[in-house]
Amino acid sequence: MKVECASNIGFCFGVRRAINILEKTASERGGVETLGALVHNQQVLNRLSGMGVRVVKNIDDISGCTVAISSHGVGPAVLAELKSKGLEIVDTTCPFVKRAQVAAKRFHDAGFFTVIYGDVNHPEVKGILGWAGGNGLATLNPQGLDDIPDLSRYIGVLSQTTQIPTGFTSFVKNVIDQALVKDAEIRIADTLCHDIRDRQSAALELAGRVDLMLVIGGHNSANTRHLLDLCKTVSNTHLIETASELQTDWLKGVSRIGITSGASTDETTISEVCSYLDSFQPELSFKLALAYVTIHLLFRRNK
Ligand code: F3S
Repeated sequence: MKVECASNIGFCFGVRRAINILEKTASERGGVETLGALVHNQQVLNRLSGMGVRVVKNIDDISGCTVAISSHGVGPAVLAELKSKGLEIVDTTCPFVKRAQVAAKRFHDAGFFTVIYGDVNHPEVKGILGWAGGNGLATLNPQGLDDIPDLSRYIGVLSQTTQIPTGFTSFVKNVIDQALVKDAEIRIADTLCHDIRDRQSAALELAGRVDLMLVIGGHNSANTRHLLDLCKTVSNTHLIETASELQTDWLKGVSRIGITSGASTDETTISEVCSYLDSFQPELSFKLALAYVTIHLLFRRNK
């Protein structure tokens, strides 16, 4: 059984940067609180928690005088509220997310209505919408603007950083088709994350060469789920958060396995999956299972 990892795997630049900032802050101050989870990966959050990084859900739950903003970023109203409470802010917002926030603010300042191709419930998207000054919305409707009544003539379109590029392109095409016939003016900002773009194409290329693809990452991580959706289009694919979720059934008759990971999956988790697969021998497992059944039957007959 051959196991191959995709060329772009493990932490992305933005997550690594955020973790470094938090580790440094926690060790200097004996702990720090983050407003919302730094990343959508429980293993990473557990490790950070051991270093004194505590997640708080709401501003009112902050008990210290320093608060860290997660890599997903926040809107200007949240920033203002944190400042009004006199809190020191450690900002770990990913530079790619910042770029999307700046694009939304530019649309707003120019009087444009911002349309975000993204999940309205995701913290990153909520933050970007805040920078659009309340003059915007988020949708993942591939049909574009079909469900938006009374649309402005001035429309700025951008994407959640982790969306699939081809999805964004076809969304933009639909927006153009629908809006240009209404004398609209459209501005488009490419706010997709470069790491995600490279990660997705590396995963897709590998998925096309293997019998089974494993995507390692948080079940609630948006970029991990996008990798799952993409790889599924060309290969038998499963999402696992840790090695303990691997099912030996999946490995039957498989000779080549590809591995990719979400942007917030740490190297330890990936190594554990690889070690498990390296040590896994289907023939041995079959023999062990056979031996177990035989012993079980003998035991019952002698009872
Ligand atoms: Fe940033 Fe892209 Fe990672 S947006 S947090 S570098 S997935």
